[in-house]
Amino acid sequence: MERTKIRFGAASRRDLLKGAAAASLAGAFPMPAIAQAKPVKVGLMLPYSGTFAQLGENITHAIEMYIAEKGGKLGGREIQIVRLDDESKPELGLQNAERLIKRDNVDVLIGTVHSGVQMAIHKAVTESGTLCIVPNAGAVGVTRNLCAKNVFRTSFSNWQPAYGMGVAMGKRGIKKAVWVTWDYAAGAESGEGFKQGLEANGGQVVQTLTLKFPETNFQPLLAQIPGLGVDVVGAFFAGGGAINFVKDYAAAGLKVPLVGSGFLTEGVLGPQGAAAEGVETALHYGDGLENPKNSAFRPAFKAKAGREADVYAVQGYDAAQLLGIGLDAVKGKIDDEANLYKAMREAKIDSPRGPISFSKSQEVVHNIYVRKATGGLNKVTGVAVANLADPGTGCKL
Ligand code: PHB
Repeated sequence: MERTKIRFGAASRRDLLKGAAAASLAGAFPMPAIAQAKPVKVGLMLPYSGTFAQLGENITHAIEMYIAEKGGKLGGREIQIVRLDDESKPELGLQNAERLIKRDNVDVLIGTVHSGVQMAIHKAVTESGTLCIVPNAGAVGVTRNLCAKNVFRTSFSNWQPAYGMGVAMGKRGIKKAVWVTWDYAAGAESGEGFKQGLEANGGQVVQTLTLKFPETNFQPLLAQIPGLGVDVVGAFFAGGGAINFVKDYAAAGLKVPLVGSGFLTEGVLGPQGAAAEGVETALHYGDGLENPKNSAFRPAFKAKAGREADVYAVQGYDAAQLLGIGLDAVKGKIDDEANLYKAMREAKIDSPRGPISFSKSQEVVHNIYVRKATGGLNKVTGVAVANLADPGTGCKL
């Protein structure tokens, strides 16, 4: 566990500024020098253990990489990172988020990967007003009915990639599908997206099969598939669970093509090996995307992390880019919330995935690509939906 990396006993931003003001009044030293010297504290609440560990690590590498590219400063302020391993455990989410906010006094919380943990972070950041940037977890409520002015997402809503896959499958003439997933928010919300995309294009989801997160005993589910008479099997799994699912699916020798949200084959093609060959997925990133940002990003990430970049790395990098845009706009004065959030909402970011912007509910707007796993790469074969925004239903921002 990375909890040991948390720094204890730091005074809050406001406490330090108060101290500096008092010292300045007393004529001890000028106030601006102290205010500028103080770093912006960024809490990274991510999984560094468990089935999503590599996802959390890639997000972290990419954030650190961007900050290093900017000489260690954003908006003229040094950045201090505090890491916390959330273990993808929703039951620990609230206490972990409050630990960062109340004890470590972070100015910004970047997190997390797991949708259940995100809901706990969301409660903590909306109560405290701490700026939060979501670098993965797709829980739809965060940018729908529960949206908040201090919460931005650079990754996706669970609905987006799965909706794209549903659209692509419907357009291809697929009539019947089954959705297979873990029984938690991300699985259910992606299933809803897949269903909506497929139904709008002439197909239907006849059944949903689930198992508990993060279990990997897929056999009882796979055994039901031949009896369903479906044209495709759609799935949401990610990280370690996705490795096992794709392997077990291939080993089961089913004749039905496997498709899904792109996380199914993202960052895991190496260990999946031949089992993943031909699996089609939809995601906001893929291999063979040609743009200057991606061409610079991939080798730089590989040099830092020792492995290829994936969507998680891109999402982390863009979380840092978004923070950089906000802090530049307010010249590091993170307490100028109105201008900080305005700049972030209006940001147009050159992402390795292509250009991105933000919807009214502060959700990323991006292309959803169709990809086919081919020789160890998720090769982009087309665009499922261009500039797809989440519906943002119920958000009043
Ligand atoms: C989620 O829980 O929202 C989640 C986790 C891993 C992914 C995607 C979504 O790859």
